[in-house]
Amino acid sequence: MAEVLLGVSGGIAAYKAVDVLRILQRRGHAVSVVMTRNATRFVGETTFASLSGRPVGVDLFGMPQEPGYDHLDFARRADVMLVCPASANTLARMAAGLGDGLLATSFLAFEGPVVAAPAMNTKMWENPAVVENLATLARRGVHIVPPESGLLADGDVGMGRLAEPAVICDRTEAALGVSTELSGRRVLITAGGTREPIDAVRYVGNSSSGRMAWAIADAARARGAEVTVIAANVGLPRRGDVTYVDAPTAAGMHAACLEAFPHCDLLVMAAAVADYRPVDAAAGKLDKSAAAAMEIRLERTEDILTDLASRRSGQALVGFAAEAGAAGLERARAKRARKGVDIVVHNDISAPGVGFGSADNAITIIGPGDAETHLERRSKRACAEAILDRAGTLLR
Ligand SMILES: Cc1cc2nc3c(=O)[nH]c(=O)nc-3n(C[C@H](O)[C@H](O)[C@H](O)COP(=O)(O)O)c2cc1C
Repeated sequence: MAEVLLGVSGGIAAYKAVDVLRILQRRGHAVSVVMTRNATRFVGETTFASLSGRPVGVDLFGMPQEPGYDHLDFARRADVMLVCPASANTLARMAAGLGDGLLATSFLAFEGPVVAAPAMNTKMWENPAVVENLATLARRGVHIVPPESGLLADGDVGMGRLAEPAVICDRTEAALGVSTELSGRRVLITAGGTREPIDAVRYVGNSSSGRMAWAIADAARARGAEVTVIAANVGLPRRGDVTYVDAPTAAGMHAACLEAFPHCDLLVMAAAVADYRPVDAAAGKLDKSAAAAMEIRLERTEDILTDLASRRSGQALVGFAAEAGAAGLERARAKRARKGVDIVVHNDISAPGVGFGSADNAITIIGPGDAETHLERRSKRACAEAILDRAGTLLR
């Protein structure tokens, strides 16, 4: 969608710029990279060149054997410039207007929106010189993505840790004016797979990783929505700007959904909720020497989606159906009618390389109305965008 110029400066968080590059690419953007010489001491330019598929700019004066080299090419090509991580030193050079390197001259020559994501030790972050440089840059229109508080690489705890890569990418897209389509809207997403206890340590579960739901949360945040995720056993990194509620079992998820549902505009039920749970889970650990075989009686769990559909007061509802093969698509269509939801997203769990646990998915979006779209294998983020495009029509 956009040409992003990623400027990497010399800080310990330089390795996270690799994630930022990958996320931007997954969202459909093309990325060129310029690095300060010091940044190459943290991450090699080969990494960025391989991943971006483009030469990486480090030397202001280029290579003598490169005819047509122009040090301002990077700035000319870009729609948005993202400096990530922005070291205290690079921020000072940007604020002072120095042109003593390729990143610095690209910044001076660039006419579009600039985003800077600083990362540094807390003491450096609080230094009045750094504070003033940031204020100067913000006054001149640079979008600053503030660092987070937490454990820093040097062992200190405090402000200075680079913001999450997905948040930095959202801000970069926001600087481009990508979308505010869901601003003021509250999106509730269920994620992961529930675990129904057999005893204190064993459970009946499934392989849902939560990655699809996480991608929907990223996409909804990028569109300006207020996002709550009810998560069942998801070990993925969490964002600072999303509310998470942990609900490891079907009963817990049912209760959390009942509480949150009245306050949302759109519910996306992406969690794999167990259909059955063991009756009378043992309080301690079952003794395996007790019997050669064991019978576990199962009972139905709450049908959360049907229950919520019966309580809706204007909310748009999206359900998921993980089914195998062509017959599965029919079952997904029937599920939409039976549960009274607006959209069912069918994913074929028999297809290789997609679905549970993988980075990609292949889906059919059924509804609203008679609309039905099949999307061939693509990133879960791209699937999430398509789902929100469709769900968004219900909110307008
Ligand atoms: C191990 C190590 C980690 C560093 N981490 C940071 C950092 O996180 N943030 C920062 O602003 N500077 C950090 N520095 C200092 C910068 O690397 C230094 O100021 C350098 O001049 C920055 O150059 P550049 O802005 O041209 O890339 C670190 C230095 C070392 C040796």
